[in-house]
Amino acid sequence: KEIEKGKYKYFMLKEIYEQPKTILDTLRGRLLIPEKIIYIDGIESNKDIFINAKCITIVACGTSWHASLIGEYLLEELTRIRVEVEYASEFRYRNPIVGKKDIVIVISQSGETADTLAALKLAKKKGAFVFGICNVVGSSIARNVDAGAYTHAGPEISVASTKAFTAQITVLVLLALIIGKYRSTINDRCYEFLCKELGSIPGKVDYALKTDDTIKKISQVYHNANHFLYLGRGINFPVALEGALKLKEISYIHAEGYPAAEMKHGPIALVDENMPVFVIATKKGYYNKIIGNIQEIKARKGKIIAIVNEGDIQVNMLADHVIKIPNISEILSPLITVIPLQLFAYQIAYIRGKNVDQPRNLAKSVTVE
Ligand code: AGP
Repeated sequence: KEIEKGKYKYFMLKEIYEQPKTILDTLRGRLLIPEKIIYIDGIESNKDIFINAKCITIVACGTSWHASLIGEYLLEELTRIRVEVEYASEFRYRNPIVGKKDIVIVISQSGETADTLAALKLAKKKGAFVFGICNVVGSSIARNVDAGAYTHAGPEISVASTKAFTAQITVLVLLALIIGKYRSTINDRCYEFLCKELGSIPGKVDYALKTDDTIKKISQVYHNANHFLYLGRGINFPVALEGALKLKEISYIHAEGYPAAEMKHGPIALVDENMPVFVIATKKGYYNKIIGNIQEIKARKGKIIAIVNEGDIQVNMLADHVIKIPNISEILSPLITVIPLQLFAYQIAYIRGKNVDQPRNLAKSVTVE
């Protein structure tokens, strides 16, 4: 059946709004909340490989690479296995150190990205166990891996990836929780709590989508800006990278993502009254540090757009604009913090009259080098 945009002007907006449902689809049959069980066939049937892993390398491109970085935080935190993340295009040409008993995870929405497919084949040739996280069923990557888990986000038409990204993160959370449980690197209380929190994600994403009106107003203020900075810390640093990539891809505005504390090692030189800075400032471990970073930007007259938790007071007083999202455990927060960034990129591109679904120079899947 032909896929339609329905009431949405662009597929990208439709796909952003589909996320409460697509995340639920990713969890369906895998997260059994009353039983507190997580089950993924491709992991269960290779249990020993995951239990005994010394190192996991995750390989991907673009947005899938950003999901991989989030996977690094998740897996290291919950499983205590060392994780390396590589761009597929670099991995395939640098004689990487992977061998027997090593796990390589490849992540790809399309399952057809040339560099990721080549990296997969190289990892297999070197004897690694390759696990795939793909969206497109029966794609080349899905057919070539040793085992895998589909993301079940449904067809993604917009060149700018949104729902596939949150589906990839969801699979990575499930993977980290299963392996953490196998290896007893998380206790039962933490495991059960995170299972419950994960079950609440679709509803919280739905709530985060309600920030759209606020974001439309902020977009009206900044659609003529030439540069943006995106800052985040910890597991939200890759979200900052993703927010910047979304804006670049569809609005053609220069944007950079940085770990907030790195700012003083260079990028702060760019900050003046013409530099809007997006800061992911949710109230978790890094909150006070982030407040310090915001003060440094304000002292240089930068404009702050902050993503905060409901009930936030301190950042609210400092920032020029705040976008309020629901509270969630830090480790699951990228699934919520990325939503306003996707909406913002969309709104800016829309105001600037760009072809949101088919940005210039880009293809949905990069099947050539
Ligand atoms: C995302 O918005 C991009 N269009 C792009 O970076 C994409 O994520 C990348 O090309 C990887 O694609 P894949 O997930 O299909 O392998």
